[in-house]
Amino acid sequence: MNILVTGGSGFIGANFIHYLFKQESFTGNILNIDKLTYAGNPLSLIDIEEKYPQRYFFEKVDISDADGVMDVFQRFAPDMVIHFAAESHVDRSILGPKDFIHTNINGTFNLLEAARSIWQDRNDVVFHHVSTDEVYGSLGETGYFVEETPYDPRSPYSASKASSDHLVKSYFHTFGLPITLSNCSNNYGPYQFPEKVIPLMVTNMLDRKPLPVYGDGMNVRDWLYVEDHCNAIWEIVTRGRRGETYNIGGNSEMKNLDLIHILCELVAEEQGISSETLKDLITFVKDRPGHDRRYAIDCSKIKRELGWQPSVDFREGMKRTVQWYLSNQEWIESIRTGEYINWIQKNYEER
Ligand code: NAD
Ligand code: TYD
Repeated sequence: MNILVTGGSGFIGANFIHYLFKQESFTGNILNIDKLTYAGNPLSLIDIEEKYPQRYFFEKVDISDADGVMDVFQRFAPDMVIHFAAESHVDRSILGPKDFIHTNINGTFNLLEAARSIWQDRNDVVFHHVSTDEVYGSLGETGYFVEETPYDPRSPYSASKASSDHLVKSYFHTFGLPITLSNCSNNYGPYQFPEKVIPLMVTNMLDRKPLPVYGDGMNVRDWLYVEDHCNAIWEIVTRGRRGETYNIGGNSEMKNLDLIHILCELVAEEQGISSETLKDLITFVKDRPGHDRRYAIDCSKIKRELGWQPSVDFREGMKRTVQWYLSNQEWIESIRTGEYINWIQKNYEER
């Protein structure tokens, strides 16, 4: 089986590729196509590259380049596409939405067109689109997003993801392309770029830098350990119904301020210092424009149909994550210093 993974050098994509090679039942090949933006770090996959030279391949491709995408489909002939590639940070979408439109919308369109053209009427294939619960908008104090919740995106990021979701669904209804789609809550774990709240807070704590809390810190997110997300995606592509959307969540709602307090305690424990020293770094800053108040996912459909549920307990997952960042300073440094960019130039751009 040939699996085309897009955005495999990013946070969830890299975890997914690690996850798949850990499965004994997986004997296929993976081609990872990634533009290697600031968020794509090939160092996250260096072990896989060394261990599976006959089964793991990488090509630096921009999915907003239609010809480049078509060429990949023609040469690699994928049986499955797992589409992670995206511009993924809300704050960046506020500062500059253009790349979000190019990559998230046009890029998804190019992949769908290539799949349609190469696969024709095949129904033993699948195109899985990885999306977010942010397409559903913002919740009040109560209630949960279900698969039927009307879309109400409020940031350029979530609007671009909503647009790509609609395109993916339209290719199922109009052209019969075998698709599946998942809308997942906030992920945490290894290899996440330290602009997202958890790695940002942990790395700032290590440097004793301020911990910037947006607004009143009472916004709520539902947290899921990234490996559970990877497992859910694999269950969906192997056993899920074609044309269906599945919500994925962690059943772990948390106010931002509570989350940051827990992170302070975990880092303090690892460093053998008082958590108050770290909590003193908390600094309330101006709120994010259009900041969604609460996300919460009802994932009873995937549980009912596929028997999936989160397996990693929130506190255990957070502890593992903190320990990973503490023991992978080299990975953090490579990102901070831009050293990985030099590495990319040396190892990929010359090829
Ligand atoms: P990320 O920003 O860490 O990684 C994105 C990857 O896509 C990077 O490797 C980047 O180089 C690549 N990329 C960007 N533009 C590209 C282009 N034009 N062509 C090819 N590659 C390109 O993102 P992530 O957190 O791993 O998210 C992966 C997917 O999961 C995204 O589609 C995101 O919307 C979705 N998602 C993320 C979360 C989360 O909590 N992080 C939750 C739900 C859904
Ligand atoms: P983030 O990790 O950017 O994910 P998303 O906005 O996609 O949910 O942010 C998670 C929450 O943390 C969100 O409510 C914004 C908040 N936040 C801060 O308070 N401070 C920060 O420095 C960042 C990056 C986020």
